[in-house]
Amino acid sequence: MKIGTPKETFAGERRVAMTPDSATALQKLGHTCVIETGAGLEAGFDDAAYTAAGVEVVKTAAALWKAADVLAKVRVPDATEMKRLREGQTLISFFSPVADEKKMKSAATKGATVVAMEMIPRISRAQKMDALSSMANIAGYRAVIEAGNNFGRFFTGQITAAGKVPPAKVLVVGAGVAGLAAIGTSTSLGAITLAFDVRPEVAEQVESMGAEFVYLDFEEEQTDGAATGGYASVSSPEFREAQLAKFRELAPEVDIVITTALIPNREAPELWTEDMVAAMKPGSVIVDLAAEKGGNCKLTVMDEKVVTENGVTIIGYTDFPSRMASQASSLYSTNIRHLMTDLTPEKDGEI
Ligand code: NAI
Repeated sequence: MKIGTPKETFAGERRVAMTPDSATALQKLGHTCVIETGAGLEAGFDDAAYTAAGVEVVKTAAALWKAADVLAKVRVPDATEMKRLREGQTLISFFSPVADEKKMKSAATKGATVVAMEMIPRISRAQKMDALSSMANIAGYRAVIEAGNNFGRFFTGQITAAGKVPPAKVLVVGAGVAGLAAIGTSTSLGAITLAFDVRPEVAEQVESMGAEFVYLDFEEEQTDGAATGGYASVSSPEFREAQLAKFRELAPEVDIVITTALIPNREAPELWTEDMVAAMKPGSVIVDLAAEKGGNCKLTVMDEKVVTENGVTIIGYTDFPSRMASQASSLYSTNIRHLMTDLTPEKDGEI
């Protein structure tokens, strides 16, 4: 089969779904590869690198969609791309199938096959193709780097001739994939790192990474908050109150808050309230990774950085993986490559 990757059309998107390395691996499965000119440029891969990896480079998106049997891309396809999708083609991409039923129907009516990357289950066997996790990992790392960039002090404590510097205190709310990556980055930069999650089973993971798990005086409900499949369920009002009371206590002490709390297919729960922001020291930073789903902090403005009256910076960017396009493209294209490996068991170029 001919696997093709177009240049992403979403404004500001820098990732690409095929790299020279992934193309080499795809060819070993018996496939051929084609890419639109310039598709990898913003992720650090130029046309010459693709040509050297045996990838055909075509001049336009139209030519690319015409040539490929299988399309691999990152973002949900736009209207023009949906028009180009035709009978018998397979599209592998983020697709938002639950939120965008119209697009699903349109693909089905045409007789095209769509593999929605966000629907890959988060089970051990599928980990290698789990793009939600590979991208959340990057977002968690970058959230800490971004916080550091907006924080006027060191993460690590120092005693120098010019004075004693206390370590920064970082709180990570939600210790899933993004949260654990943020915890690892924060502890390795030397900050005192605290983390909270409604799933008590993650306490051990948090502690193994050198952070401190924030326990609530609420044993029963905290256990009750855990659900199957590694995802949380909605907390009871009593549990939420205990959680918020704890956060209120921590707000004046912490310098950086990274919120990643999410329950699948719901608005993000409000966990860092306005009064907590008001209680934080000037110069503190909040990175709200849940901005796209309404934010864990209601003062977050999606895709923007705002500074509150009391000098707290709140970052609501939703494109952290794209801000690390080279790394993100390498991991995402590897996820796709693993998926293709499973789809091409005979290594004969047939899916
Ligand atoms: P995940 O499902 O692995 O982790 C979410 C965690 O939040 C879970 O551990 C869950 O138990 C916890 N949680 C749920 N309710 C909670 C509560 N009330 N209090 C404390 N913890 C709670 O999700 P993942 O992949 O780590 O993603 C986290 C967030 O990051 C999502 O909102 C996702 O959309 C976002 N994200 C943002 C990106 C960006 O560029 N801004 C890029 C990638 C992901």
